[in-house]
Amino acid sequence: MMNCLQSWPEPIVRVQSLSDSGIHVLPDRYIRHPSDRPSFTSISTHANIPVIDLHSLLAARDAGLRQATLDRISGACREWGFFQVVNHGVRPELMKSIRQLWRDFFHLPLEAKQVYANSPTTYEGYGSRLGVEKGAKLDWSDYFFLNYLPESVRDENKWPTTPESCRELVNEYSKAVVKLCGILMKILSVNLGLEEDYLQNAFGGDDIGACLRVNYYPKCPQPDLTLGISPHSDPGGMTILLPDDDVSGLQVRKGEHWVTVEPIPDALIVNLGDQIQVISNAIYKSVEHRVIVNSIKERVSLAYFYNPRGDLLIEPAKKLVSKDRPASYSAMTFDQYRLFIRKSGLWGKSQVESLKCSQ
Ligand code: OGA
Ligand code: NI
Repeated sequence: MMNCLQSWPEPIVRVQSLSDSGIHVLPDRYIRHPSDRPSFTSISTHANIPVIDLHSLLAARDAGLRQATLDRISGACREWGFFQVVNHGVRPELMKSIRQLWRDFFHLPLEAKQVYANSPTTYEGYGSRLGVEKGAKLDWSDYFFLNYLPESVRDENKWPTTPESCRELVNEYSKAVVKLCGILMKILSVNLGLEEDYLQNAFGGDDIGACLRVNYYPKCPQPDLTLGISPHSDPGGMTILLPDDDVSGLQVRKGEHWVTVEPIPDALIVNLGDQIQVISNAIYKSVEHRVIVNSIKERVSLAYFYNPRGDLLIEPAKKLVSKDRPASYSAMTFDQYRLFIRKSGLWGKSQVESLKCSQ
């Protein structure tokens, strides 16, 4: 493989600069094919993804309530691949301050952010595209990407120094989110009929990966023609999304429709990634989602990705494979899987589909 991931195929344009320049017409690179535009197959619906209160799992002692909560999570994993959690153990003040901190970061002058400009080798830093395909359509968003776990890849020197409390808060928030993910991994394992530690062990025990992508969606002059993030399923294990408290934009696929998630105060959004789809032998799905933008308000979200260690083979759990339900996927390491995505960008669910065994 030639050094295909060392640099971007064309100069990077910050979406924020385009937005700030006051253009009224979207550059061609951001204009979607009509069938991919937000209005296509969208319905206005009052359906929302399930909202689940984790209090009974984290604090209460009522066994009946605990089982009812486990059942609701099981239903959400099977039907939606997405749910919101409240009473999840991450302090609301911490959520507010870290969101504000990143909003302040994106409001810094361009030169201050360019110091962190990223490359497709590791994606760490300030970025504006995913994938290195020349001439590809681009999403209406900028982002900041950083690694937290394993510790061997954590490099705080690559994290912003301004706002001043950035490194401290990112560490504190990361610790809280990783703890929540550990709890959810146990719940999912039990719900799948596996040993409590099954998923965590399959992911590498203490050696799992955790990384943060902060998404910044500037105001857009023609939001009907573009998307903030293309339809995709998350490639890793599980994602904990801290959405904007004020502006919605995340849409989740439900059959032929896109359901807009209405965040509720202090909730976090949980969604399952492709690696859990594989281990669960497709009992759980990593569901496609996308982001729409608007012309009135910018939007900030923090997506925390909890992933398997890169060099472990990920395959369907033996207990979930039977004559009636043969293994749907062949084994692959997350490093191999991610390389594929880092070259080609996000394309709906094509990656996990391509792992399918031909039967
Ligand atoms: C992501 C993602 C959704 C959002 O970063 O993978 O799906 O609401 N983000 O920003
Ligand atoms: Ni996503």
